[in-house]
Amino acid sequence: MNKLPGWALPNLKEAQIRTRQEVSIEKNLFAVPAEMRQMGNGKHYYLRTYGCQANERDGETIAGILEKIGFTQCFTPEEADFILLNTCAVRKNAEDKVLGELGALKRLKKTNPDLVFGMCGCMAQEEEIVRILLEKYPHVDLIFGTHNIHRLPVLLYQAMMDKEKTVEVFSKEGEVIENLPVKRFGQHKAWVNIMYGCDKFCTYCIVPYTRGKERSRAMDDILNEIRDLQKEGFQEVTLLGQNVNSYGKDLHLEGGFAKLLEETAKLGIARIRFTTSHPWDFSDDMIDVIARYENIMPFIHLPVQSGDSDMLKIMGRRYTIEQYKELFDKITAKVKGCAFSTDIIVGFPNETEEQFQHTLDIVDYCKFDNAFTFIYSPREGTPAAAMEDNVPMHVKQERLARLNERVNAYAHERNEAYMGKTVRVLIDGPSKKNKDVYCGYTETNKLVNFSLKQGDVGDIVNVRITDIKTWSLNGEQV
Ligand code: 5AD
Ligand code: SF4
Repeated sequence: MNKLPGWALPNLKEAQIRTRQEVSIEKNLFAVPAEMRQMGNGKHYYLRTYGCQANERDGETIAGILEKIGFTQCFTPEEADFILLNTCAVRKNAEDKVLGELGALKRLKKTNPDLVFGMCGCMAQEEEIVRILLEKYPHVDLIFGTHNIHRLPVLLYQAMMDKEKTVEVFSKEGEVIENLPVKRFGQHKAWVNIMYGCDKFCTYCIVPYTRGKERSRAMDDILNEIRDLQKEGFQEVTLLGQNVNSYGKDLHLEGGFAKLLEETAKLGIARIRFTTSHPWDFSDDMIDVIARYENIMPFIHLPVQSGDSDMLKIMGRRYTIEQYKELFDKITAKVKGCAFSTDIIVGFPNETEEQFQHTLDIVDYCKFDNAFTFIYSPREGTPAAAMEDNVPMHVKQERLARLNERVNAYAHERNEAYMGKTVRVLIDGPSKKNKDVYCGYTETNKLVNFSLKQGDVGDIVNVRITDIKTWSLNGEQV
């Protein structure tokens, strides 16, 4: 790779280093130099985000920064002066989609030679991807990583005004930056970061390499953000972290996530959700707090990944399937009407038919309301990517199909229990397909389509369920 002076390229080896160094909380790190303050005036940006909620939330920061320097958001790439893809690296098919999109958008440079193409997010943290971009996608002008978002004004200025190809990807543990602008994409539901990064190093997962070390925001900063959201009329917050259960461990904070959850509940916002929880360190205190407060929603995303204890060990998951069941039962017993979703990977290297059967068994046991199921995708730099794999792709595909059939049947069965019941629904807005039908979510995170009699977007109303589908419910307001 031709390295221009000033380029910082990703380095996966450096990205996995974890030191005992204290995380710095930066209250003034984000700053816009004077010459950049109006660089976006009269210009449009088109932002597309892939992947998880953490990435969605990063998208809101990026939009906040761009609007601070004068840009206006547009919703078709044709109108844009700056196109930015905020990407996900968790599986290869997510990456292929982005590379396809980048290729397809290239034509726009013909009609608008000043157009600036940018790529950021988790893919930008990968050595191999940046190499491919530099070699095969010369029309990409700007690449920056998950640790470089606060540098966007400076980086974009270099790419757009100085017309210099710009690559800045830090591979480091990371800090907590508190003074970043934000443009919320939701009107009554908001994402709230409580921590960044991940130290779990599950053997298949790229995230600890792309997002740095586990680091928590100070509790006061989080609670103040939620107070502000309440003042602005937000009804629901989702507390975000790669593993929220670890919240506060790095700060040696007494009470950890259970304490944060309780303090959040006491603020009185109508709905609180959180994601993601690792089954390994889900504490009894957390379960008690969830059970005690009505505004903490009875819905838990609890990724199991596999139903086989040997496989879980190879995946580096730190629990056995018996421990998972025990936790599941404990939550079910204490949190009334709790719904569960999960993540499952099939076709991990050398997975046997018997091990896969154990995965079907845990689905039978938990009868998840929803499950996100994936074929294992090797990620460069992770331990699993170096494992030999004797499972042919057609076997993986066939296992995924069998698993999905089972998952769908239980999703439908769980929904059947709602027939004729009245549920509380937070109104999101008119449904995309039919403007007379409104949609929203129950406390247990079920999508409901219903006829609205009175009320408005952002209200919580009672809806009687009249029909059920596998992935949604139909009803009428009562
Ligand atoms: N291959 C397939 N699925 C993966 N996930 C994470 N890494 C991989 C991978 N390499 C899944 C896990 C995780 C979810 C976000 O994505 O199930 O919980
Ligand atoms: Fe994708 Fe993981 Fe990055 Fe989220 S943290 S965008 S899921 S790779």
